[in-house]
Amino acid sequence: MNFNTGGSLLLFPSLAMLFSFLCLFLFLVPTLLAQSSDTNASSTSAAARALDTLLQDYAYRAFVRPKTGVLYDGVVPSNLTGVQIAAMRLRSGSMRTRGVEMYKEFQIPIGVVEQPYVERLVLVYQNLGNWSLRYYPLQNQTYLAPVLGLLAYDASDLSAKNLPELDLRAFGDPIKIRFSNVESVPKGSVRKCVWFDLHGLVEFSNLTAPNECSTIHQGHFSIVTESISPPSPAPGRRKKMQEMEKAADAGEALHMTTVGDTKAPSATVTRTQPTLETEYVP
Ligand SMILES: *[C@@H]1O[C@H](CO)[C@@H](O)[C@H](O)[C@H]1NC(C)=O
Ligand SMILES: *[C@@H]1O[C@H](CO)[C@@H](O)[C@H](O)[C@H]1NC(C)=O
Ligand SMILES: *[C@@H]1O[C@H](CO)[C@@H](O)[C@H](O)[C@H]1NC(C)=O
Ligand SMILES: *[C@@H]1O[C@H](CO)[C@@H](O)[C@H](O)[C@H]1NC(C)=O
Ligand SMILES: *[C@@H]1O[C@H](CO)[C@@H](O)[C@H](O)[C@H]1NC(C)=O
Repeated sequence: MNFNTGGSLLLFPSLAMLFSFLCLFLFLVPTLLAQSSDTNASSTSAAARALDTLLQDYAYRAFVRPKTGVLYDGVVPSNLTGVQIAAMRLRSGSMRTRGVEMYKEFQIPIGVVEQPYVERLVLVYQNLGNWSLRYYPLQNQTYLAPVLGLLAYDASDLSAKNLPELDLRAFGDPIKIRFSNVESVPKGSVRKCVWFDLHGLVEFSNLTAPNECSTIHQGHFSIVTESISPPSPAPGRRKKMQEMEKAADAGEALHMTTVGDTKAPSATVTRTQPTLETEYVP
């Protein structure tokens, strides 16, 4: 073999390129792993958003010469039996200055403003009943009440479909949600309010009164309690463990390129598993 100088000069840039590709890959692996769970969350959220769109259409159908400030119960398609919907049309100004004393479970105080501004708006109410878990699955939590939705839309065309939601914000007191049928929990269990915004964000907070949650935003709401985990790993948790193992493999690859074939990351994960197992024992 006879290396000429030109050949090694060419070799060096390609090595550098290979190295930067390797770095890029190593940085990407954890990112891709993280994204795989995000994608899952957004696919469930996509189904929930499609449901919002469908329910907006069906709620608007309840309006036949609607009076402002009057609640109209809607009828859902038969493939969604168990879901309840309602609609109320309001002047934007009256929502801001007077609020709505009681709209199903929602109490809307003075000072709720929509964005962008519209002259009249419709508040669509949803009670997802036995469909709550299907559209809003939550790991490690048990629903104690159905998921309720409150969403605002422009009222200028009452036959419109696929309307974008308006952004609702309470600038004074928060909107209160008084759940009417909340399942009781074993003594010592903690109940939490849960809020789903329209982009897949989930937030937990304390109840503000017995069976009451509050919010300054629109979205979907319920009351949950932490599930007591069954003795064998639930599918969700098994998946999590697989992800941890995958992450460990990626970590291992990193080690192999730098230190050699040490299996330290994988061993660390194995040791932490018993902690996962016992974490949820009451
Ligand atoms: C992720 O998606 C799969 C299939 O769509 C589903 O079976 C699984 O329950 C989802 N996991 C989570 C945590 O949403
Ligand atoms: C339920 O039926 C309606 C009306 O027929 C249809 O538009 C919608 O896609 C169906 N939804 C589901 C979740 O099956
Ligand atoms: C909810 O209950 C209705 C009957 O009241 C049933 O037709 C429907 O399939 C149920 N939905 C789910 C998701 O189980
Ligand atoms: C559910 O519980 C498992 C096991 O304790 C935990 O690893 C996981 O992060 C929890 N999931 C959520 C969404 O809190
Ligand atoms: C919720 O309540 C618990 C116990 O009552 C308290 O320790 C915690 O700080 C509260 N959390 C928030 C966010 O207010």
